Amino acid sequence: MRILESERLILKPIEPEDLPYLMEQRWDADLTDYIIHNPISSYNQQKWYEKICQNGDVALSIFYKEKEGEKPVLLGAVGLYDINWRHQRATWKTLRIPKQYQGLGLAYEASKMLIEYGFYTLNLNKITSDIFPDNEGIIRVLAKLGFTEEGRLKDHYFHQGQFKDVVIYSLLRKDYKKQ
Ligand SMILES: CC(C)(COP(=O)(O)OP(=O)(O)OC[C@H]1O[C@@H](n2cnc3c(N)ncnc32)[C@H](O)[C@@H]1OP(=O)(O)O)[C@@H](O)C(=O)NCCC(=O)NCCS
Repeated sequence: MRILESERLILKPIEPEDLPYLMEQRWDADLTDYIIHNPISSYNQQKWYEKICQNGDVALSIFYKEKEGEKPVLLGAVGLYDINWRHQRATWKTLRIPKQYQGLGLAYEASKMLIEYGFYTLNLNKITSDIFPDNEGIIRVLAKLGFTEEGRLKDHYFHQGQFKDVVIYSLLRKDYKKQ
């Protein structure tokens, strides 16, 4: 097995061939209730990709080994962004699991793999995430990993016709319980 591979999942750096699928996912109304995205063109998707490569963000495609002997299915992406090496922290974001694959524990598993990579390979001390307070799914995923609420920014985003608070969740390496 490779680094960032489990029985079910492979996480690996986003490749140019993953971009058309990831761009389509950004347009998927079912997945954007709690994620702010402007409609994005392939030109802008390419620019985003170049930026994350230059920034050194750990932006990974998630592949699911759905059927033995078949090519793993690209589900989406997840990443550690805005890595600050001096303060040893990063922001976890952009996880989306398509509707037909939800409820299988894949978001939890992918996040766990990435967070352990962040703490034990990249030597991060703290991982944070900004979450809409009504996004029960992702709050449950983060809570299972040990993230706790650190603070709330009021009316911080304008999303789907209203101003919304955002809650900052965080996890320190010393508080992470490796399972
Ligand atoms: C949120 C999301 C990533 C969850 O993906 P998933 O693969 O279905 O989640 P998992 O199967 O790993 O679930 C992990 C836990 O969260 C719970 N959970 C998942 N979605 C839930 C929901 N909508 N409401 C309540 N609990 C939920 C599961 O029951 C499970 O808890 P358990 O182990 O105690 O039973 C997925 O619904 C999604 O892509 N949503 C749209 C995009 C989004 O909002 N992303 C987050 C913003 S960065």
